[in-house]
Amino acid sequence: MKGRPLVPFAITAIIGILLMISLSFVGLNQRAEMNADEPEAEEEVTEFEDPVAAGEELAGQSCIACHGADLTGSGGPDLTALEGKYSQEEIAGIIQNGQGAMPPQTNLNSVEADAIAQFLLSNSQ
Ligand code: HEC
Repeated sequence: MKGRPLVPFAITAIIGILLMISLSFVGLNQRAEMNADEPEAEEEVTEFEDPVAAGEELAGQSCIACHGADLTGSGGPDLTALEGKYSQEEIAGIIQNGQGAMPPQTNLNSVEADAIAQFLLSNSQ
């Protein structure tokens, strides 16, 4: 040991580092197992009790970036005067499939798109 006082420390350090690495892999596997056990965090919406209120909230999340905070238009056109221009089905179709420069809103399912369409028509002047 004389002349090499650092060797035992180095060995301890290396063992410690290896232990840390292997333990974090164990942790990763456990995390993956826990995730596999959990049910789908985001459940698919199949029905709204109050579609108009739900649609208003969803529009506030998904549409205002392009259609303006009050939906009267900014990058995209005014959405507060759709009555007579589009039916509920047509609006839901535009939301899901996009139209012209508007990309399809793939984060919304058909029930959600329908709720937004109902809200937009009820909110129409
Ligand atoms: C990335 C920007 C963007 C987002 C997000 C967006 N839109 Fe649009 N939207 C547009 C643009 C741009 C147009 C014009 C499309 C065209 O005719 O070229 C448009 C057009 C429309 C139209 C037709 C309007 C008309 O008078 O012809 C409707 C209805 C519509 N959007 C509804 C929505 C709804 C509801 C949402 C939220 C679920 C939404 N959009 C989200 C950009 C967007």
